[in-house]
Amino acid sequence: MVKIDLGGCNSFVNDAEYKEYLNKALDAFDVLDSENGAGNDFLGWKVLPNETPESLISACEAVRDDWKSMGIDLVITIGIGGSYLGARCTIEALSHSFIRPEGVPQVVFAGNNLSEEYLSELMDLAQTRNTACIVISKSGTTTEPAVAFRIVKEYLDKTYGQESSRRIVAVTDAKKGALKTLSTQEGYRTFIVPDNVGGRFSVLTPVGLLPIAVAGFDIRALLKGAADEREELIKKSEDNAAIKYAAMRNFLHSEKNKAIEILVTYNPKFVYLAEWWKQLYGESEGKDFKGIFPASVTNTADLHSMGQFIQEGSRTMFETVVTIENANRTMVINFDEQNLDQLNFLAGKNVEHCNAMAQLGTKLAHIDGGVPQMEVKIERINEYNLGSLFYFFELSCGISAYVLGVNPFNQPGVEAYKKNMFALLHKPGYEEQTAAILKRLGE
Ligand code: PA5
Repeated sequence: MVKIDLGGCNSFVNDAEYKEYLNKALDAFDVLDSENGAGNDFLGWKVLPNETPESLISACEAVRDDWKSMGIDLVITIGIGGSYLGARCTIEALSHSFIRPEGVPQVVFAGNNLSEEYLSELMDLAQTRNTACIVISKSGTTTEPAVAFRIVKEYLDKTYGQESSRRIVAVTDAKKGALKTLSTQEGYRTFIVPDNVGGRFSVLTPVGLLPIAVAGFDIRALLKGAADEREELIKKSEDNAAIKYAAMRNFLHSEKNKAIEILVTYNPKFVYLAEWWKQLYGESEGKDFKGIFPASVTNTADLHSMGQFIQEGSRTMFETVVTIENANRTMVINFDEQNLDQLNFLAGKNVEHCNAMAQLGTKLAHIDGGVPQMEVKIERINEYNLGSLFYFFELSCGISAYVLGVNPFNQPGVEAYKKNMFALLHKPGYEEQTAAILKRLGE
């Protein structure tokens, strides 16, 4: 279960102030629970942990087993935003940092940028490997994944001929979109992104489950962790961790002028957890000229870069630290006769103990420096606890956005860059915008 510790905010808030925001969060919980709020046609994520059918789980595992039987050792997973961050976050958190286990494909990601170098180098890799592809796009029309898929599909078709249709699996809308049409035409296995689940809330749909299963991880444990967390968080109470988190972050934002929230981790395996979290909160809350700007640091590395700013720069931020209570590995620092590095005072101590002391020391220093800190704790990194963490952050995001007074489930602002890009690329249908933008640029 996810635990929350608000102790690092004590010197910034009194009981009455916190209570006021707790009441707002309790009211927002009711709005989410009764499904009467803005964006209520996108609440399918709430029940995914409990209502994911066995047939869907087995179908993901069947793709994994089929590709294993074919000796696939590289799976290119194509998608952007909510269509890749949950899978990438989970796979990076659970994988060995350096070594891929025997018999498990390497899962790499594409379609999340338009870099020619990135795609070219990816195709260099594909040519040396036995390659398959998962293409994920709910709309089926997003430019970045569509460009990447055109290139990867062409390569797979040329290299593997008819067998390429067994090497491509699509995750998309049930009925509409270019990817759906192509999948039917080419006979690809397809998985459905439910209509009522938005991209950034979709990690527990096949959008996340399929790549995570193919990468060799236990999606049943992931769903179980989310289901148990849900069981805990559907109880409306002042002790509900999701309600407490939503209350405190809104208090700090509205009453203490803290416009930036930094998600802090002390394990490089969580770099993409922070990326997933930034999309979840940034896209859900940043609208109507409101919102807390979500940022992230990975310590202790970033204590030697961003640490200066957090300690002494403008006092506009608070921190949410994801604490991992127990490491999955142990490594002891040994006694050294010469002691030239003068580290013998650490002899017999675990590296993780030093990490924990760095975390505690930083917490105290940042509080002293005017940076409030919350802690979100999990017992260790595994599938079950990641499932819990996903559900915790998703639910608290819905509550928090309702406290802020925005629709958590739309993202109208994402369209602005697309319109300009299409106009600049001379997309048919954008002739007027093309003329206007060229005039604006003086061309
Ligand atoms: O959260 C979201 O809705 C977005 O990040 C989308 O997931 C992203 O834009 C990709 O969209 P699609 O899956 O339609 O290609």
